[in-house]
Amino acid sequence: MIVSLNEAISIIKKGGVVAVPTETVYGLGADAFNAEAVKKTFHVKGRPADNPLIVHISTLDQLRMLASDIPDEVLLLAEFFWPGPLTVVLHKKTEVPDIVTGGMPTIAIRMPNHRLTSGLIDETGPITAPSANKSGRPSPTKASHIEEEYDGSIPVIEGGASEIGLESTVLDLTVTPFIILRKGKIGAKELEHVLGKQVEENSLDRQETKKSPGTRYTHYKPNASVHWFDPNSSQIDEDGYYLLHNYQNPSLKKCVYYDLDFDMMARELYDHFRTADHLNFKNIYIEVLPTNDFHPLISPLRDRINRASGH
Ligand code: TXA
Ligand code: MG
Repeated sequence: MIVSLNEAISIIKKGGVVAVPTETVYGLGADAFNAEAVKKTFHVKGRPADNPLIVHISTLDQLRMLASDIPDEVLLLAEFFWPGPLTVVLHKKTEVPDIVTGGMPTIAIRMPNHRLTSGLIDETGPITAPSANKSGRPSPTKASHIEEEYDGSIPVIEGGASEIGLESTVLDLTVTPFIILRKGKIGAKELEHVLGKQVEENSLDRQETKKSPGTRYTHYKPNASVHWFDPNSSQIDEDGYYLLHNYQNPSLKKCVYYDLDFDMMARELYDHFRTADHLNFKNIYIEVLPTNDFHPLISPLRDRINRASGH
């Protein structure tokens, strides 16, 4: 059910849960300092209790309420990238309820770039906000996705379609070198450029490490099966739902053509997953992405599609 900003503020202050828009995906917001409220988000999402949440802030002062030490690098990153799609992992203050971080001594923090949600946090203080999907499903990028996911039972602030459409980059600053735990629009090169030091990427064989709890679970999955489509070697499935960026074939019945517009492809990916399900498609085929990652969203797109396809 759609609620106004003021209604949302009052629900959060009373310990309730409200879905909030951000520039990446919609989140399921709750007061980060109210353990009972945070517990509700785990329950609503069906999320395993050891998968920690990101705390969302609207000012740098709020960072000091959450993190026990604030390295200079954070302020540098904040200056360049906040508000924006970057989450940093820092050491947690003991005042933050353990449920927020799944019992971990570290805490993930981000300042989202959305007028309504910043306005809400200004009034409520820091909120936890995991992506507002049920555990394992594609992240919601529109208010209507949340309405359908929970049959209208969760209050939602209508904030339009999420501009980026893929979740934030998660960067762990508690280890040396710094390491990207989840890819997002802000990549290693850009971070290294700002920081003047090395940033590692969590390669596939490191994804099982304890550092990155969320990577242990299946993610982003629609009901339809997701497959990579290689125009050079894959068979055409006439009944398939195709997302293409380069290859063209007028005989395909259902296809969306992006002409190398990876911003648009990222923005719409999860919406197409949901549309394919509504239309009862059994298979979604996505054209293999260019191997030279000339656009910042190619690498995170590949990551999400790999996971959605079960790789
Ligand atoms: O773009 C986003 O980040 C969205 C919007 C709503 O802000 N939020 C989001 O939250 O994607 P969620 O809960 O779906 O994903 C959070 C990711 C998970 O993979 C989780 O394991 C990781 O961040 N994470 C959270 N706290 C962590 C910590 N202390 N250490 C390592 N990873 C952490
Ligand atoms: Mg999520």
